[in-house]
Amino acid sequence: MQLQWYPGHMTKAKRAMQEDIKLIDVVIELVDARIPFSSKNPDIDSLASGKSRILVLNKADMAEQAATKQWEKYYEAKGYFAVAVNATKRNELKAIHPLIQKACKEKIERDRKRGILNRPVRAMIAGIPNVGKSTFINSFAGKSCAKTGNKPGVTKGKQWIRLNKQVELLDTPGILWPKFEDPAVGLRLAFIGSIKDELLNRTEVAMELIGFIRKSYPGKIEQLYHVGETGKPEEILERIGMVRKCLAKGETVDFERTSALILDDFRHTRLGTLSLEFPAAV
Ligand code: G4P
Repeated sequence: MQLQWYPGHMTKAKRAMQEDIKLIDVVIELVDARIPFSSKNPDIDSLASGKSRILVLNKADMAEQAATKQWEKYYEAKGYFAVAVNATKRNELKAIHPLIQKACKEKIERDRKRGILNRPVRAMIAGIPNVGKSTFINSFAGKSCAKTGNKPGVTKGKQWIRLNKQVELLDTPGILWPKFEDPAVGLRLAFIGSIKDELLNRTEVAMELIGFIRKSYPGKIEQLYHVGETGKPEEILERIGMVRKCLAKGETVDFERTSALILDDFRHTRLGTLSLEFPAAV
């Protein structure tokens, strides 16, 4: 499947990120817990070199818990401070604070040796579109946090949210771009809805999803739609269309509507909390 991406957006986002990153101590990178590999852009490794790094597996409420645990371990082994959360739940984000302190331990020590006490650590959120960056910032900052104005040495217009005495958060997230070169990555981004369906062949995406779920989570399709899971994906799609009455003229199955229905069910976890990637396979 061929996907279009816009180099103009990419270059602008990269430049903005390069500027912002100079101001911060720790990058809190968000990925989607259902696709922790495909929703991560490796370019951040060079962009954020020399910075402390925290990896947040967001939308953990939509992924399979056991797989998410494996991903946490996977990224910890790569030297990240990793944590799985649901950014819509403010309480769950409390776990980030001790991680920031751990990740910035050396910087805090260095400051202390120089006699600089209580200088807040500066953090920024980064990630590809739709991983939950804005949601995370809103939940993490909450309503009570004061925004700090422009400061000497800080680019004009940058807003910092003071979370507490120890941490300031840049109020605009760093936007990374998805890596589309690998078609399997593009497909998984399409499954979770990170690529507009209008740009894709929805039926093709739905059939690929059926193929994946049937193989990795046998029984889930049958459980929701009460149709057999054997045969070609298009046959399963047709059965679902019949059962759900997604019909076109002449009582034939409307494949487009059926595909939209399946994608919507998956994206709203009606098919269960399913992970699309596993560390053993990357
Ligand atoms: P972005 O800034 O990275 O582009 O993402 P944004 O925060 O806009 O979040 C994208 C969508 O993901 C939003 O849903 C948001 O509510 C949802 N979301 C973010 N974090 C989580 C999470 O941890 N768990 C779950 N289940 N959802 C999360 P939306 O469809 O745009 O709106 P709505 O669903 O809130 O109506």
